[in-house]
Amino acid sequence: MTTTSFAVDAALGGVPARELAATYGTPLFVIDLDVFDLEVDRVVRSCAPHGITVGYAAKAFLCAALAEHLAATPLRLDVCSLGELVTAERGGFPAERMYFHGCGKTAEELQAIVDRRVAFDVIDNDEELARLAAITSPADPVDVMLRINTGIEAHTHAFIRTGGENTKFGFALAAAPAAFARIAALPQLRLIGLHGHIGSQIAETAPFVANLDELLGLARIARASGHPVAEIICGGGIGVEEGPDDPRPVDIDELTAALEGRARGTGLRLAVEPGRAVIARAGSSLYRVMAVKTQGRRRFVIVDGGMADNPRPLLYGARHLPEVVAARAAGPDEPATLAGRSCENDEMGDYVLPRDLAAGDLIALRITGAYTYSMASNYNRFGRPAVVFVRDGHHRRVIRAETADDVMRLDVV
Ligand SMILES: Cc1ncc(COP(=O)(O)O)c(C=O)c1O
Repeated sequence: MTTTSFAVDAALGGVPARELAATYGTPLFVIDLDVFDLEVDRVVRSCAPHGITVGYAAKAFLCAALAEHLAATPLRLDVCSLGELVTAERGGFPAERMYFHGCGKTAEELQAIVDRRVAFDVIDNDEELARLAAITSPADPVDVMLRINTGIEAHTHAFIRTGGENTKFGFALAAAPAAFARIAALPQLRLIGLHGHIGSQIAETAPFVANLDELLGLARIARASGHPVAEIICGGGIGVEEGPDDPRPVDIDELTAALEGRARGTGLRLAVEPGRAVIARAGSSLYRVMAVKTQGRRRFVIVDGGMADNPRPLLYGARHLPEVVAARAAGPDEPATLAGRSCENDEMGDYVLPRDLAAGDLIALRITGAYTYSMASNYNRFGRPAVVFVRDGHHRRVIRAETADDVMRLDVV
């Protein structure tokens, strides 16, 4: 059980939590732009000396305002749907710094690639290769990478080689040379690189290095058969800590140095595409306590959000440290289970929270920036929360909260 921090009136990005809740309501998804910029800078500063390019995985969180903000950074952007692409375009993110991922691209998405709304495609499978080739003119070839399933499967504290058959993504190592041969016979496609992403929330360097070693071996084969392979994207997956006072699970400088060490002398450019490690620490979810009750021996603190605005605790056991940011009193602490308000047992973890906590108090879950809003749903027909940027005591709404009318907007009646 984790003891949480306590403040009678704390701030997010210099803005009192009470003010944010009063202005925008709760639940509320808050992005601190100073923290975001710091994390962007940290990754770029670690990668740049090693010649490693950085992309941001939009799936972790994207809205038009963040795309606009990202456009002013040196980062590229990995998009994996028309929705992410259009969002990036609305934010003015340049096409030449975007590329397309995904293992089941629609005809419209492939057309967007051919129309150069992104710089290149990362092809996942043979069917995609054939469909893209069929709509591309040899007079105007499209740049592509191949997503390789290197058979490295990373877990939080370990990795295994699976031989590639354990996940659906990409071309298995053994299948890659045949894909190289197919592309060689297609003048409308230019193979410019290889890509391998092995998982998320990885806490060590070794699996990234093992993944890169496999990709380097394949790149040699591709180049030997005449493909202009110039880049290897090592994927995302850099893990983050649960609470602000926990140590960072990955030393980014150690990681980037290790990657460069393996690729040195090959003439290949390296890239990474983290999502979580860039956005997670900048995000907080602000909730209002709706009820505090004791059932048997358990005390439940029920907040006005839950699995609809953050499915990750239920989906894969994600934990976020709650911080009481606005309360009437500061009494002694007691164990409590934090729970949402949905019609599921949407418990968010067991913590030690103030005994005096009462309906109306505000709790912030920290480090929720990644895969929280982007995975939110309308379960129970709840509206998704508003998203607010904060910085230096200023706040700005970038996505408004969905109302019941918004939830109804697609119903045909
Ligand atoms: C292809 C690809 N790249 C990058 C990422 C980002 O991973 P993370 O947010 O863990 O850095 C993902 C996440 O699933 C992914 O599928």
